Amino acid sequence: MRSVVKFACLVIACLAVSCVERYKGVDPFSISIVNGVPWIDDQGTPVNAHGACIVEENGVYYLFGEWKSDTTNAFPGFGCYSSSDLVNWKFERVALSLQKDGLLGPNRVGERPKVMRCPQTGEYIMLAHTDDMRYKDPQVGLAVADNITGPYTFIGPLLYKGEPIRRWDMGTFQDHDGTGYLLMHHGDIYRLSPDYRTAEDKVLSGLKGGGESPAMFHKDSLYYLFASNLTSWERNDNYYFTAPSIEGPWTRQGLFCPEGTLTYNSQSTFIFPLHRGDSIVYMYMGDRWSYPHQASSATYVWLPLLVDGSKLSIPEYWPVWNPQTLKPVTELGGESTKVAFRSDKKGDKLVFPFKGKRVAVIGHTFHNGGYAVVRILDAEGTSIYSNMIDFYSKVAENGIRFVSPLLSEGEYTLEVECIGEHPHWYNKRGDYFGSREDWVQVNEIRIY
Ligand code: GLA
Repeated sequence: MRSVVKFACLVIACLAVSCVERYKGVDPFSISIVNGVPWIDDQGTPVNAHGACIVEENGVYYLFGEWKSDTTNAFPGFGCYSSSDLVNWKFERVALSLQKDGLLGPNRVGERPKVMRCPQTGEYIMLAHTDDMRYKDPQVGLAVADNITGPYTFIGPLLYKGEPIRRWDMGTFQDHDGTGYLLMHHGDIYRLSPDYRTAEDKVLSGLKGGGESPAMFHKDSLYYLFASNLTSWERNDNYYFTAPSIEGPWTRQGLFCPEGTLTYNSQSTFIFPLHRGDSIVYMYMGDRWSYPHQASSATYVWLPLLVDGSKLSIPEYWPVWNPQTLKPVTELGGESTKVAFRSDKKGDKLVFPFKGKRVAVIGHTFHNGGYAVVRILDAEGTSIYSNMIDFYSKVAENGIRFVSPLLSEGEYTLEVECIGEHPHWYNKRGDYFGSREDWVQVNEIRIY
């Protein structure tokens, strides 16, 4: 309830300063980033690029990320997508495939791929966390390609002084002068060699208070380093440091999202400098994980950061926002129907016939939430689309859970079916995370 009230206050606050976009009766989704819902690519399948990064080239955004499976954590490849607006994504290819053997062979872990174009050689360099299935063999894998979408050729471990770097979560950062850096969890930072194929110098060692999922950007005279706490795929309140140079001294600045929102239910992965007019807006990119059904149900939280000297913040959660105007969309338009579907019984379903081109589902996520299958049937009753969505979140939230792809105008039936499963997993120490029940709750349907 508290989060619903908070959300209402946020809407009122935004309306008061008239900084919002309204889409009465119109469909805002083809021009908006919608956080926390599966994004559907040009092939009709969820955009599957987690622990991601974006590289911009010739006006095209290339998204690279973990091409997750729905059943196992074993590495199936890293995916590459492209877009001209950060909203509509085309599947390019599996940029790095499962290898026959070695660090990214069968039954291995591959995470957090980061791609940079090396200014000196023109080569595209992909660095990623590789590991065994129990996270006991961490290394940084190196793959290269001559063109941005690949396919990338796996070379082996990135070396520092001839040895692999035996740490896990990683990120990369490319400075304004073209120098490439490898960011490791808990505050180790390496400068890459001019050809980006080795780690040349360890410029920071064990930053006190450092954490997982490192990401960085540089604006004016400051560097900003992001970190998360160690809660496996569970979300936590991420935090950041600032420093006048990468070598330090680094100052822990605290949280950049309101405390207790658990970084709006996400974990940092990358900060993308979004060019808008003459300025750059730094876009936070985070993951909302969903184990075991990560391919279908893990989603993204992307939001612009406010930068004010050493103070960074994302003061409000914008479930839907326009990356062109950088404004939240608070009136979703469409035709709204309130519904009251709440169940934890496998097979129970909400059935909602509609006429239109698109349907959006609004529902509640909470600590005992589970998975549902969302299905769209055509007038003959044939399923033309289905995907799994996740109603779990440690911190409750009412909001958009699903936005269908654009359909041809017609008569359809929406089904939201409780499947009697819930996201849960164990970390390396054997601690239990996630939900313990299977609840699914839908409050509203919007038709466009
Ligand atoms: C943390 C890391 C992820 C992944 C999970 C596995 O969330 O940031 O990249 O390794 O743990 O539990």
